[in-house]
Amino acid sequence: MATEELQPLIYDLGSPGRIGVNLPECDVPAASLPAELLRESLPLPEVGEVQVVRHFVKLSKLNYSIDQGLYPLGSCTMKYNPKINEDAARLPGFAQLHPLTDEDGCQGALYLMRELQTWLGEISGFKAVSLSPAAGAQGEFAGILMIRQYHLDRGDAQRDVILVPDSAHGTNPATVTMAGLNAHELPADSQGNVDLQALRAACEGDLRERIAGMMITVPSTLGLFESTILEVIDAVHAAGGLMYMDGANMNALMGVVKPGALGFDVMHYNLHKTFSTPHGGGGPGSGAVGVNARLAPYLPGPIVEIVEEEEGEEPPLYGFVMPEKSIGRLKAFHGNFGMHLRAYAYIRVYGDSGIRDVTRYAVLNANYLRARLMATYHLPYPRYCGHEFVLEGHIEGADAVHALDISKRLMDYGFHPPTNYFPLIVPEALLIEPTETEVKEDLDAFVAAMEAIAAEALREPETLLNAPHTAPVRRLDEVKAAKELVLCCAPALPR
Ligand SMILES: Cc1ncc(COP(=O)(O)O)c(C=O)c1O
Repeated sequence: MATEELQPLIYDLGSPGRIGVNLPECDVPAASLPAELLRESLPLPEVGEVQVVRHFVKLSKLNYSIDQGLYPLGSCTMKYNPKINEDAARLPGFAQLHPLTDEDGCQGALYLMRELQTWLGEISGFKAVSLSPAAGAQGEFAGILMIRQYHLDRGDAQRDVILVPDSAHGTNPATVTMAGLNAHELPADSQGNVDLQALRAACEGDLRERIAGMMITVPSTLGLFESTILEVIDAVHAAGGLMYMDGANMNALMGVVKPGALGFDVMHYNLHKTFSTPHGGGGPGSGAVGVNARLAPYLPGPIVEIVEEEEGEEPPLYGFVMPEKSIGRLKAFHGNFGMHLRAYAYIRVYGDSGIRDVTRYAVLNANYLRARLMATYHLPYPRYCGHEFVLEGHIEGADAVHALDISKRLMDYGFHPPTNYFPLIVPEALLIEPTETEVKEDLDAFVAAMEAIAAEALREPETLLNAPHTAPVRRLDEVKAAKELVLCCAPALPR
């Protein structure tokens, strides 16, 4: 379908007098609106209800979503978001709660936030948690600011270096720079782990006194669990640094591995990945951050604590508290409460063993796809993966075809493409994350599509080079599309 075929737009369907909704008789004196609010020039269409519904349903179909099918966008964890979370978030007592409500009037919400803090701490093995960061990257920023402040308080102002493996998420080095520290990159070894020799050279050499910490994504963006993680943690601690874990990929660990127990000092979670709160399109997220005892006083605030507790049946009184040496606020009010609510519902529904099953199925599904696809596509790190894995999007004998062409062709087969060209250390990377919510039939259909595309690449490469053929639009100038969004569905209207 080409863009023109989407016509007529709703603006063309209007006809004077067509009515979409019947309002009840007005039973109060009519008031006139200020003239400046009434724009005669605004060409709003007069349309019936059915036309409006069809218009929006048509628009909704232009965008691929997890509710339509598999969305294996590695590192983004596009898992199904259970609808019960949405029901919970829409309960009027929560949805209509004003952020300035005094603490006496929102004890239920405070209780929920405190429970979520406790559960996240329990899942990851950390002593304290703040829910306030609004995104994963903001959780990272909070973590690095805490590490910096910890060293400053100890008079260790020269500690200005954070070690970052080249298999880290791109936000990690960016965060270090934003926090005013310096990122020192460490290479991966042939297994995809951090190169221990390079790490030891940094921790035992000239940099030793300058090491503030290390920031490591586990599992890495290669989808691999660092098999030498305990040695890595020891080496950095021995040099006086603290360990930051990018825990956005906790969906490969929760219920199985507790990063706090491994020796990490601080970690952020992506509630909008692991705990199924919706994301994408720049929507609100939550990058809650957990810490061990030595960093607990530095947490961003406010956090929720029990401020009064009496013996007997009375429930305790919850309140917002700023930790003693807090790095401050990162977000207006108390973070994205709607996201906390959804994550709470998600953990509540799954419970202890359910959370572990989520991890087991996420890892099983990824390994199933990996094992089946490695017969057709090159797997640069041939070992068990966590929740995702990287293939090389290059097909022997079809040199004109690149990862991007394979991804575009997948759209014709009805799948969202995997993440392309990331991580940067794998040429033609296709980062594939099926998530735990997919059933075997859908995984098999994805494998069949990937195999069919590999065969097409050899037989008729042009089909891939010109894909997609069935999407509402063909290939876009993606940078321009991102920078100059056209959100108006009627191009003729002034923007
Ligand atoms: C491993 C990892 N770290 C950090 C982030 C950054 O999170 P956010 O996009 O919420 O800032 C992501 C995002 O998906 C991620 O996958």
